[in-house]
Amino acid sequence: MVITQGGRRRIVVFGGTSGIGLACAERLARREADLWAVSRSPQRAEKRLAALSNVRLAAVDAVDDSAVQDFFKQLGFCDDVIVSMAGGAYIGPFTGLGDEELDRSIGCKLRGYIHVARAALAVLAPSGSLTLVTGLTASRPVPGAATLALLNGALESLVLTLAVECAPRRVNAVSPGTTATPAWDRLPTEARRSLFDGAAARTPLGRAAASDDIAAAVAALLDAPFVTGVVLPCDGGARLA
Ligand SMILES: NC(=O)c1ccc[n+]([C@@H]2O[C@H](COP(=O)([O-])OP(=O)(O)OC[C@H]3O[C@@H](n4cnc5c(N)ncnc54)[C@H](OP(=O)(O)O)[C@@H]3O)[C@@H](O)[C@H]2O)c1
Repeated sequence: MVITQGGRRRIVVFGGTSGIGLACAERLARREADLWAVSRSPQRAEKRLAALSNVRLAAVDAVDDSAVQDFFKQLGFCDDVIVSMAGGAYIGPFTGLGDEELDRSIGCKLRGYIHVARAALAVLAPSGSLTLVTGLTASRPVPGAATLALLNGALESLVLTLAVECAPRRVNAVSPGTTATPAWDRLPTEARRSLFDGAAARTPLGRAAASDDIAAAVAALLDAPFVTGVVLPCDGGARLA
């Protein structure tokens, strides 16, 4: 792994206080690195991350472009940025998608990701990497998930162009299948169980993902210095079924 300014890598995880982002923060904090776990309410992860002395929490709403810019300006430079934010995307029949739901859906997963990517790339070390967590809905149609499909699809297209435009910085995506994270806690227990059972049945590896499965794929991309412009499926083979 390439080490830049000061000897320790600086890693930023937007959405690093829950689910996949939190698993990335925990896994990557085992390295010789200083790590920032960022979200709107980072205190939620205080307990989980307390034992990791190289992790700092920061409160930034990614939808607020000037807050994101201030965060990266204050940081000055960084080496690896991971974006794994979820928030309020509409799920339901496409014909029921109103403009209000559309704006809310675009807010975090498109606008928020773009704000972070833009501000991060402005201060990212030449040997640095940007990794976006997208989602299998971009490439495997799921009725009711058209909004997620268009958001994830847009981000996966963005990755290809940024990998060329922003080289030698590397830009990649990890595309998870169904993953057990607190994002699903809003579902009633029975519905959640049937979601994960259904995902397990459709997945060659026979189970839904755990957050750390996705974090392992993110970490692998950070460690692969000649990989850029790829969307890495991390779905236990679900896209093939
Ligand atoms: N779980 C799955 O089955 C699955 C499958 C495919 C793809 N994905 C994708 O994986 C990503 C992470 O999902 P997850 O399941 O890990 O979700 P999660 O457990 O709900 O975590 C989402 C994280 O994003 C942060 N966040 C939300 N809005 C934010 C904002 N405006 N500014 C800054 N931080 C914000 C949250 O913290 P605060 O609330 O404190 O801001 C939290 O740390 C999402 O993009 C999701 O679409 C998930």
